[in-house]
Amino acid sequence: MLRIAVLVSGGGTNLQAILDAVDEGRIRNAEVSVVISNNPGAYALKRAEKKGIEAVCISPKEYASREDFNEAFLAKLNGYAVDLVVLAGFLVVLPEKMVRQYANRIINIHPSLIPSFCGKGFYGLRVHEKALERGVRITGATVHFVDEGTDTGPILLQKAVAVAPDDTPEILQRRVMEEAEWKILPEAIDLIAAGRVRLEDGRVRIIQEER
Ligand code: GRF
Repeated sequence: MLRIAVLVSGGGTNLQAILDAVDEGRIRNAEVSVVISNNPGAYALKRAEKKGIEAVCISPKEYASREDFNEAFLAKLNGYAVDLVVLAGFLVVLPEKMVRQYANRIINIHPSLIPSFCGKGFYGLRVHEKALERGVRITGATVHFVDEGTDTGPILLQKAVAVAPDDTPEILQRRVMEEAEWKILPEAIDLIAAGRVRLEDGRVRIIQEER
């Protein structure tokens, strides 16, 4: 059974997609052991509580320095002994020590087709504003492993979404979530839980399901 920690900062619709997928058997052999947020007001924490999942808030604001927060955050996470960390709209820069300790065991959902519209400062609505500004006809979402960079780790899954002529950033964000994020993040977790994901020379290989 793959033990998962989901790190959140906001509404938690991606977390909800994971929880629903577990309930509906689209994620097998995995359980969400804990949901951790930096934001006490994150509705994602309420979503976890409704499912009886431990919901923890640990905020940088509670600590004298970022170093103190990083230490406390990593210690808190380590206490749950999870196999996989899922960043689902988590807006805090991960401690370097955590990225090293959980090498190849942290995945992130990003609301564009990486390498487009990603990197420092590209999160939330701004990603879609930039896609519309550039006039792309296709955008989408990416699940990637997290390395020491920003949105630079090996790509696991991507899903394309069409941009409509009258899209606003809000309409496009919602479509990318509904048609891409909420589908590929659960799928990625199910693949990892099934042991079908290999990382080879910085590239991801997905092993075909045995018939
Ligand atoms: C999503 O748009 C996701 O792509 C990005 O942050 C947002 C999180 O939304 N990483 P939610 O908290 O899962 O609703």
